[in-house]
Amino acid sequence: MNSTKKTIIITGGNSGLGYACAKRIAKDNINNHVIIACRNAIKAKESIRSLISETKNNNITFLELDLSSLKSVRNFVTRFSELNFPPLYALVCNAGVQFVDTIHYTEDGFEETFGVNHLGHFLLANMLLSKITDSGRIVFVSSGTHDPLQKSGMPEPLYENARLLAYPAETTQSKKVSRIGRQRYTTSKLCNIYCAYELAERIREQTNKNITVNAFDPGLMPSTGLARNYSPFLRFISRYVLSLLILVHPNVNTVGKSGRALAYLITNPKLDKTTGKYFEGFKEIKSSTLSYNEKNKKNLWKVSVELTKLKNTETILNLD
Ligand SMILES: NC(=O)c1ccc[n+]([C@@H]2O[C@H](COP(=O)([O-])OP(=O)(O)OC[C@H]3O[C@@H](n4cnc5c(N)ncnc54)[C@H](OP(=O)(O)O)[C@@H]3O)[C@@H](O)[C@H]2O)c1
Repeated sequence: MNSTKKTIIITGGNSGLGYACAKRIAKDNINNHVIIACRNAIKAKESIRSLISETKNNNITFLELDLSSLKSVRNFVTRFSELNFPPLYALVCNAGVQFVDTIHYTEDGFEETFGVNHLGHFLLANMLLSKITDSGRIVFVSSGTHDPLQKSGMPEPLYENARLLAYPAETTQSKKVSRIGRQRYTTSKLCNIYCAYELAERIREQTNKNITVNAFDPGLMPSTGLARNYSPFLRFISRYVLSLLILVHPNVNTVGKSGRALAYLITNPKLDKTTGKYFEGFKEIKSSTLSYNEKNKKNLWKVSVELTKLKNTETILNLD
């Protein structure tokens, strides 16, 4: 067993995929210190109690992080820096939301799917770069739903300009609200990939660090809380009917299996030099054609710097 002490931060580690990944990483090595970064202290403490009991690893901590607030992201980084954790080895950008009822906004006034799934993580990853060890890792949890060729049944992403994603026009046509909400989700998952690819490139070109950055599709996991905003009927379908697909569909998974695959991207030494790639479970594959669009990727970076008011002093990267 490797006796080097390491810290791994997992956003949204209190439930679903994040919990399963935390469990695997904590169990893998008692020297792994896992930080569950989430917004709800009560839920986090319950998860930590059960993680410690399941893994026998006492090095599991909660630090408050609300990705729908830029202030909370900045406070998280300050708090993390003040506490004396082992060296930061990895960041798992896992937390995610999906809304199908109405438009939701973050504290800073951004559409929330984009704000939480992309902008909060963009700021967090940039601000933690100076603290991540030289051969550390970052993984962005994306989704196969970003790729229309996967025929997931979700609307294909619509990327025109990141500013329109942050400040979309509101629709009054109630029939379209659910579809637009799901499209915001698939677009945010496309943004996770642009962000991973751009960050990987900038780290390679602008720093001496070998921090790897990859994007990950866990596959469909019908039992998690992601569908919580769906109607009771659709939640029932998702939990019980789609679960049957686990038996026959190669990319419909139990949360445990996807958690192991996500943990593999963090812990497997074979991936020391793998960066700027996309994984479906354990397998490296190509992401969608649109995800390699350079113009969109650069637009997302530039607008994200502006919206988060990221300062040169807050990251080791050149922001231009
Ligand atoms: N489920 C699937 O089929 C599927 C498929 C492809 C990709 N994914 C991706 O997998 C990731 C994990 O989702 P999941 O399926 O495990 O769903 P989940 O059980 O709902 O977990 C989402 C996590 O994100 C956290 N979160 C939400 N808003 C947050 C905020 N503002 N600040 C901090 N944390 C916040 C939640 O915390 P609270 O408990 O406080 O809400 C929860 O811990 C997401 O990125 C999702 O897009 C899921």
